Amino acid sequence: MPVTLVIGSQWGDEGKGKIIDYLAKDSDFVVRFHGGNNAGHTIINKYGKFALHLIPGGIFNLNTKAVIANGVVIDLAVLLSEIELVEKAGIKVKGRLFISPRCQLIMPYHKLLEQVYEEAKKGVNTPQPTGRGIGPVYADKVTYNGITLGDLLDRKSFKEKLSVQVLIKNKTLKPFGKKVNKNVVEKDFFSMRRKILPFISDTFTIINSAIDKKQNILLEGAQGTFLDNDWGIYPFVTASNAVSGGVNAGAGIAPNKINKVIGVAKAYTTRVGFGPVPTEQKNGIGNKLREIGGEYGATTGRPRRCGWLDLEMLRFAVKINGFTEICITKLDVLDNFEKIKVCVRYNLNSKRISYEQCSTKDFDRVKPVYKTYKGWQKSIKEAKNFKDLPKEAQIYLRDIEKMLGVKITYVSTGVKRNEIIKI
Ligand code: IMP
Repeated sequence: MPVTLVIGSQWGDEGKGKIIDYLAKDSDFVVRFHGGNNAGHTIINKYGKFALHLIPGGIFNLNTKAVIANGVVIDLAVLLSEIELVEKAGIKVKGRLFISPRCQLIMPYHKLLEQVYEEAKKGVNTPQPTGRGIGPVYADKVTYNGITLGDLLDRKSFKEKLSVQVLIKNKTLKPFGKKVNKNVVEKDFFSMRRKILPFISDTFTIINSAIDKKQNILLEGAQGTFLDNDWGIYPFVTASNAVSGGVNAGAGIAPNKINKVIGVAKAYTTRVGFGPVPTEQKNGIGNKLREIGGEYGATTGRPRRCGWLDLEMLRFAVKINGFTEICITKLDVLDNFEKIKVCVRYNLNSKRISYEQCSTKDFDRVKPVYKTYKGWQKSIKEAKNFKDLPKEAQIYLRDIEKMLGVKITYVSTGVKRNEIIKI
């Protein structure tokens, strides 16, 4: 299938990196189309261990090219250090990484603005952002105040735009005792300019020519459905569209060109940051999931909040993203649970309520209705086929499939590259 889209079906951190890595070996292009270095995945391969936040995972497959499309917001210093890291490992990046000039640049004032917003909000109505300036850079984009990578090509225009923005931003920052120095910012960006120039390309044409040639394109969604700016639990969301529709605007790919939409879901639920999580277990179960699953943020190191799988949310994720198949990750984390619960619906005031009907406040009050499964209580790491899985694990997966009405095609059974079952 030439164009495959991989989307997180929870709150990010579903283990998309592993499935991307698995699928990238057959892909001509791996494309990122939204978000920025708020995302992150650790890649372990024969070249070493790498924490990448911006460069698509496919860069390590030498036959694959990587694209950072227009919808991505770029912290230039972070991107350049990632390029350097990959090059130091002996991987050729020039001629294999293409970055759209339409990408918005994260400027130092965006990170400061995020800090002052957080200070002013005092922990109320905030998703606890990652500190990367993601909200403020997207805000500037939609209010026509952004500076793009393409602007950096024209020094004069860059200088003019920066002057206006620094003037405005410093007025907002002043009451909080913060400011940016225009000359320093300008010098920093001009010193990075030369290094990034060879990577700037017309990614629309690159991607669409590849589609016309029926090449394999893998679209790497970042974050997850419930962090989507429109469809997540607002304001506990991120600034971009993390649902499948984001790919049209974010990469310039028409919806009818997408052949497969793979939803990635962890066998339980996690989230980093504030906001309602109906199935969260603030008890020994949550702690056990966190410790066994190593649930600490890849970008910030923050402990993730953990709970049971939420099929009410997944049902919504299937609908809005149009999943054609599902990949279940980290099933092995449930190996040592005597009983495993799954939320099958929500009740509010003893009446059924769906995800899409809930207001943000409702999510704090909904009562998840659980179905309980018998745990398999043995390691599944050695399983190579679905039929090798313990009977209880097979029942668990088949039931999820039935309730969601979508086929599970991959099950990840461990951290290693080969610990994956294709069904
Ligand atoms: P921001 O994207 O940094 O503005 O953060 C907004 C919310 O999204 C916060 O709750 C973050 O913890 C969360 N978030 C952003 N990116 C990721 C991710 O890649 N994985 C998990 N959570 C994320």
